[in-house]
Amino acid sequence: MRIGVFGCGYVGLVTGACLAEVGNDVIGVDVSAERVDMLNGGEIPIYEPGLKPIVKNNLAAGRLQFTLSAQQCIENCEVLFIGVGTPTNEDGSADLSAVEAVSQAIGEHISEYRLIIIKSTVPVGTTKKVREIIEKYSAERNVEFDVAFNPEFLKEGAALQDFQRPDRIVIGVDSRRAEKALRAIYAPYNRNHEKLIVMDIASAELTKYAANAMLATRISFMNELAGIADQVGADIEQVRIGIGSDPRIGYAFLYAGAGFGGSCFPKDLQALAHTAGQVGSDSHILDAVQAVNKFQKEKLYQILNDYFEGNLEGKIIALWGLAFKPETDDMREAPSRVLMEQLWSAGAVVRAFDPQAMLATAGLYPDQAADGRLQFFDQAYQALDGADALAVVTEWKSFWSPDFKRIREALNHPVLVDGRNIYDPELVARAGLQHFAIGRSLQT
Ligand SMILES: NC(=O)c1ccc[n+]([C@@H]2O[C@H](COP(=O)([O-])OP(=O)(O)OC[C@H]3O[C@@H](n4cnc5c(N)ncnc54)[C@H](O)[C@@H]3O)[C@@H](O)[C@H]2O)c1
Repeated sequence: MRIGVFGCGYVGLVTGACLAEVGNDVIGVDVSAERVDMLNGGEIPIYEPGLKPIVKNNLAAGRLQFTLSAQQCIENCEVLFIGVGTPTNEDGSADLSAVEAVSQAIGEHISEYRLIIIKSTVPVGTTKKVREIIEKYSAERNVEFDVAFNPEFLKEGAALQDFQRPDRIVIGVDSRRAEKALRAIYAPYNRNHEKLIVMDIASAELTKYAANAMLATRISFMNELAGIADQVGADIEQVRIGIGSDPRIGYAFLYAGAGFGGSCFPKDLQALAHTAGQVGSDSHILDAVQAVNKFQKEKLYQILNDYFEGNLEGKIIALWGLAFKPETDDMREAPSRVLMEQLWSAGAVVRAFDPQAMLATAGLYPDQAADGRLQFFDQAYQALDGADALAVVTEWKSFWSPDFKRIREALNHPVLVDGRNIYDPELVARAGLQHFAIGRSLQT
């Protein structure tokens, strides 16, 4: 099949590369000339494990190309995926301007039947809106087309695995023709057993938000419990195991920590709560999940501030991990940003190490990187030299079994803030370090 993908970010690029890998001819479109040039040169603009070789191989095989020309893509591809960003507007609603711009371009250039598949996360009613825009701009040509909604559930850091071996493929359609085409597109990923869940469009649109809201709710629930555990002298890790063993609850997404970030949970919660408000529905749980998370993202700063008795002026804090989670360079809504910004406001200096996200972080904070308030190091231990404390913010694998003695020796104060509850309190204590974790008051 000839497939076009609008947007060459985490979702669009993975979608395009994977669809090319199974034999489709794919054209990726982006508005960023820098991104398109980079991709055509075999370089990828994001860090996603395993993605680069797939992009390179399919470029070389002639099945994958990138362009700035929406027209070229619309004229040549029978199926058009929309995978552009849907960030948050000031009022919390989803900014649909990129989706609308692509829809307009499709309307302007469509000249024969096309299936348009929205993969971006969009509020209920957007698929209908996209159809109306295309109709408006193609009115005098009277061309047939279908618009389907096919939410993307990939996780950054495991995006290829998620795309190529999905748990489920949700498709929201209102025509048999669209369903048949989507079945054909996903056939290579649907051999083992039926993974397609076909539903009406509004339900598919809501399913994506519901999935993210449920996962975020579990995290905020555990973070709230961690706060209680701290006060009553319990260990949230033991509580986690105690409740996760109930199959009705399960172990996934029950980790207390420094709060959730990333490009999806925060913005999707806001957008869903905004939708609820618009239609006169309640969003008590969604609002509470966000409020707990905002509080949680300030937790690591509070721990440090308490330890240093409110005097962080001139203190040097080492950070291990900047990305919002391991195996990505994505800094969108990362808890490390809240921590760093609070530390700078208090007059502290940050010495940081992250295996992948330092470039992205430098781009976000050019002033602090230039004046020395934010310093980057090639090695995790280098960040500790002369530092007053260490905060582990992202649980990259390489941080899981450190040399605690070496950490103790490098730091001016014996302070290890374990923002992801990854360390055995006994091992930390044995090295002479004070272990500040989340909801593990018994252990500190
Ligand atoms: N990142 C994830 O883990 C993830 C997972 C599931 C769903 N989603 C959803 O997928 C969508 C895309 O997310 P992302 O993380 O890939 O975003 P991203 O910011 O990484 O990529 C978006 C890309 O779209 C490009 N773009 C913007 N306007 C365009 C236009 N008019 N034409 C062509 N390209 C355009 C941008 O230049 C950028 O390269 C969002 O709605 C997001 O909520 C993301």
